Amino acid sequence: MNQSALEELLAKMTLEEKIDQLLQLTGDYYKGSDISTGPSSYMKFEEDTVNNTGSILNVLGAKKLKQIQTEYMEKNRHKIPLLFMADIINGYKTIFPIPLGLGSTFNPDLVQESAAVAAKESAAAGLHITFSPMVDLVRDPRWGRVMESTGEDAYLNGLLGAAMVQGYQGESLSEEGTLAACVKHFAAYGAAEGGRDYNTVDMSERTLREQYLPAYKATLDAGCAMVMTAFNTVDGIPATGNKWLMKDLLRDEWGFEGVLISDYAAIAELMAHGVAEDGEEAAKLAIEAGVDIDMVTPVYVHNLKKLVDERKVSEQLIDESVMRVLQLKNQLGLFENPYRFADEEKEKEIILSDEHRNLARKIVSESLVLLKNEGALPLSKNNQSIAFIGPYVDSKALSGLWSIHGDSDQVVTLKQAVSEKVDGSKVGFAKGTEILDPDTKISGFAHEVEEKEFNPEAAKADLQEAVELAKKSDVVVMALGEHFIQSGEGGSRAAITLPEIQLDLFRKVYEVNPNIVVVLFNGRPLDLKEINEKANAIVEAWFPGTEGGNGVADILFNDVNPSGKLSMSFPHSVGQIPVYYNSFNTGRPLKKGEAGHRFQSRYTDIPNEPLFPFGYGLSYTEFEFFDFALDNKVLTNTGKLTASITVKNTGKYAGKETVQLYIQDLAGSVVRPVKELKGLKKVELQPGESKTIEFTITEEMLRFYTADMKFESENGKFKIYIGSNSDMDIFEEFELRK
Ligand code: NOJ
Repeated sequence: MNQSALEELLAKMTLEEKIDQLLQLTGDYYKGSDISTGPSSYMKFEEDTVNNTGSILNVLGAKKLKQIQTEYMEKNRHKIPLLFMADIINGYKTIFPIPLGLGSTFNPDLVQESAAVAAKESAAAGLHITFSPMVDLVRDPRWGRVMESTGEDAYLNGLLGAAMVQGYQGESLSEEGTLAACVKHFAAYGAAEGGRDYNTVDMSERTLREQYLPAYKATLDAGCAMVMTAFNTVDGIPATGNKWLMKDLLRDEWGFEGVLISDYAAIAELMAHGVAEDGEEAAKLAIEAGVDIDMVTPVYVHNLKKLVDERKVSEQLIDESVMRVLQLKNQLGLFENPYRFADEEKEKEIILSDEHRNLARKIVSESLVLLKNEGALPLSKNNQSIAFIGPYVDSKALSGLWSIHGDSDQVVTLKQAVSEKVDGSKVGFAKGTEILDPDTKISGFAHEVEEKEFNPEAAKADLQEAVELAKKSDVVVMALGEHFIQSGEGGSRAAITLPEIQLDLFRKVYEVNPNIVVVLFNGRPLDLKEINEKANAIVEAWFPGTEGGNGVADILFNDVNPSGKLSMSFPHSVGQIPVYYNSFNTGRPLKKGEAGHRFQSRYTDIPNEPLFPFGYGLSYTEFEFFDFALDNKVLTNTGKLTASITVKNTGKYAGKETVQLYIQDLAGSVVRPVKELKGLKKVELQPGESKTIEFTITEEMLRFYTADMKFESENGKFKIYIGSNSDMDIFEEFELRK
């Protein structure tokens, strides 16, 4: 359809029909199920509304979607097709590592490929739009949703968010196997106070613009079709009713013309927040802020008509929102083919294909981060006896909270993977314990949670079996972690240690065999104090997805050399949170490694630096950095500098290193972070091989929000750091003279 046909269509619609286009309903209204990703008890809708609703949430499967679309189109007076949207976060059926793990690949190409596979599989299953990427910047691991983010850095989040958009959307939405992307949660949801989900966010406009907003903007620059609001407040006003955020900034300043959808029930929640007295006020706030679609609440359908009739809201506003929805449907080609790429044959052919699984396996191995290694790794396939102990040794629950459409029986466990690689006489497996302490209660989120009675006798026997196995083995690999339901939405935790029952198992095993490699399955940085003190080696495996077992085993046995880097710092303890690499110096900085004195900015009981910093991750080989050089010591506003460094693989295995470029502005009109990531390059080197890596530095990269809130650079001195993580000392200096 062309624009004038869309306008004609809009002109034919009644006000009620238009408003219905602005509603999104769950699947249970259309013979799908309600995969519940939020509270839905207050939903009550008339049949007419259901027959005219604009979009539907979290229903998948080509056959089902075609049937729903067919029945819907028969009833819909204007034959406007339904939009199908869903949370395809780290894959549809082929599940990739959780986004925090994808972040640890530091590899935009792979992240793009994973999104393209997710799009292909779910587009064949009839989906049109995915609620991804989530690019909320995160600095607080108590917040369960850090697992959905690619981490604590604006640049990395922007790079990977844009890569996901390109992967989902391809060159054009008319290309087969594409999905429209919806970036979320706009804005600053990652800064929930105290890490408690849905909690207040309060920060300066400077921090918002400099740290939190750039990643959303990067995805829009990459063409992201939709934006989702956030649950939190932004400067006292909930994002979903925040006119400054949505209209002035998103639409007017950034020029976003696509569809803006509320998060689940967020329009109704304007009342609970206390900025709207009733539904009418909530509807007015949201529509005037430019929110087009009301996800699952009756607030728009019950109130907008009255508001227009009473001239409290102009019909023009409704028309603009509806037009954006119609344009999106048109852009997806739905008026020509309402089933789009839904195809049962294709589903069978591509879902979980070898190609997709192989990619997933490769990505798992790039997402794993080797945090510590005092020699226990890599494991040998034939020269040692190995005990695999822990609740994650033979677990299929490796996909994380958002794998709501995945099938856990497709997951390869660590035990399966190891059994394929190694002679059975060399390895033993024991669960040792359940994942959770007997008194820990967790609840659903679209997953069935099996309630198990705690059986002390069985627990004792499991523990005993594990200890016996550890005793007679050369090395113990302990697969430990959080329950996957402990992280993700609504998964805030005040204590971020491993469950006590697993720590107890760890201690008992340690007593009989301290040669322990810990492999962690979790959705957030954890407090690893005790594990780090005692274990010989630690591998962070996140929730790795369908090919999790294979990817982990590839790393343990050095079929792949680890190369993942932390996309989020690991704190020493909860009391250190928030801890992130690009902080300010303070007026009383403490140099790393120094004890300092009372009147310096420091903790008296732990270091200021995190246990493991952003960008950190080891390899089985060693890399040396040398010949760091700048081709000029002065940068002008039209010129550029080239920073170069040579990286050599001085160890005995081939491997990949992520060379990271950080810049520090030494003095500005406002305080500048101690360093900021501005570039990265992942290089692969054979033993003995070296490569020279170059980064180009331009004036644009030095811009920030100055004292008078102008986004520009300021003359002065800068430091450039290049190295293998955010905590490095090698630097060069230059001066900006504009
Ligand atoms: C609520 C979550 O905050 C959001 O990320 C998700 O896309 C929606 N529910 C829909 O499931």
